[in-house]
Amino acid sequence: MTNRSKSAWRQLEEELGDLGDRGLRRQLREITGPQRSRTTMVGRPVTIMCANNYLGLADHPRLQEFACRMVREYGCSAGASRLISGTMTLHRQLEEELAAFKGTEAALVYNCGYMANLGLIATLAGRGDLILSDALNHASIVDGCRLSRADLLVYRHRDVGHLESLLAERGAAYRRRLIVTDSVFSMDGDLAPLPALAELAERYDALLMVDDAHATGVLGNGGRGSAAHFGLAAERIDILMGTLGKALGSCGAFVAGRRQLIDYLVNKSRSFIYTTALPPAALAASLAAVRLLAAEPELAAELRQKSDYFRAGLRRLGFAIADDPTPIVPVIVGDAATTMKLSEDFLAAGVFIQGIRPPTVEPGKARLRVTISRDLEWRELDRVLALFARWRAAFPR
Ligand SMILES: Cc1ncc(COP(=O)(O)O)c(C=O)c1O
Repeated sequence: MTNRSKSAWRQLEEELGDLGDRGLRRQLREITGPQRSRTTMVGRPVTIMCANNYLGLADHPRLQEFACRMVREYGCSAGASRLISGTMTLHRQLEEELAAFKGTEAALVYNCGYMANLGLIATLAGRGDLILSDALNHASIVDGCRLSRADLLVYRHRDVGHLESLLAERGAAYRRRLIVTDSVFSMDGDLAPLPALAELAERYDALLMVDDAHATGVLGNGGRGSAAHFGLAAERIDILMGTLGKALGSCGAFVAGRRQLIDYLVNKSRSFIYTTALPPAALAASLAAVRLLAAEPELAAELRQKSDYFRAGLRRLGFAIADDPTPIVPVIVGDAATTMKLSEDFLAAGVFIQGIRPPTVEPGKARLRVTISRDLEWRELDRVLALFARWRAAFPR
């Protein structure tokens, strides 16, 4: 037997074939230009309407210049993990400025949101604890719950009554209770009922953890996030996680909260401890983005105007679109094959909207997850609305 004929490779090929047969096989698509709304794919001009670069900061001159300057000054790598020799001045500055931005005592940077969620949940909950998780939480939260070995109860999406009944019936038997939710749900663009969740967490002595990945830079005054949007005091969210690779145009993630939480994570959180720290380029770009948001609150306001405009446009065409205040606009198509065909049709017209299929969303709910970015021109929004109008006329439902 050669390495190439081992049975495992055959099994993998069969699984891939099966995914293909069911219209679920995925492929990587390459962006050949810079990350911005108007760019190129394989040399052809294209408008991207599926990225999370909501504020168009990924290629903002201020982020680029500061990142380049910091690379020249500090180099390309942090050289080690944070607890060895990988903590640089830029880490401390970014953590202090993120805490100030979110209105918390302290913050701690992780290498990405996936690692942050894994590390936070598995550190704060374990055997003998109970996690209560929204049914549509992000995959990284789902995986963090699995890794923690705590008992898990999934409550119906945004259903505060269901969550309360689970807390009342089951919560008291556990050492610790952790309620965890996305603030903006990544595939639906709707909001968690945070004020009600904070109240339940207080009433039932539970920790409340909120994933602000799609709210940071987007919601609230100057993009301060979901707590600011709801007028909720920052300390009512015990563990606030956010990402730096979406609206903030860089990469990485952070947790913001009380100093005691941060100290505990530094000592115990394996996905924080056992990995090489973020390099200067990423830290500097994030720092420049946080400073830009603080100085120019109108960036988030402009994003909101464009999101509202696009949602209203789709509603006028007869699409069932909620009026959530977020740039994630799901157009539900149904089956995976039609969704992918539609995505190809849009691409042929110069607009890239990736189709989202199971298992990312439930079967029968495949969709075009349209996202709005502040750097999209108004006339481009109108052009894309016209494409949706054409599709709707061809396939009236
Ligand atoms: C809600 C949510 N949380 C966490 C993540 C993971 O963040 P990162 O991309 O920084 O790993 C994502 C998406 O990437 C997300 O949508």
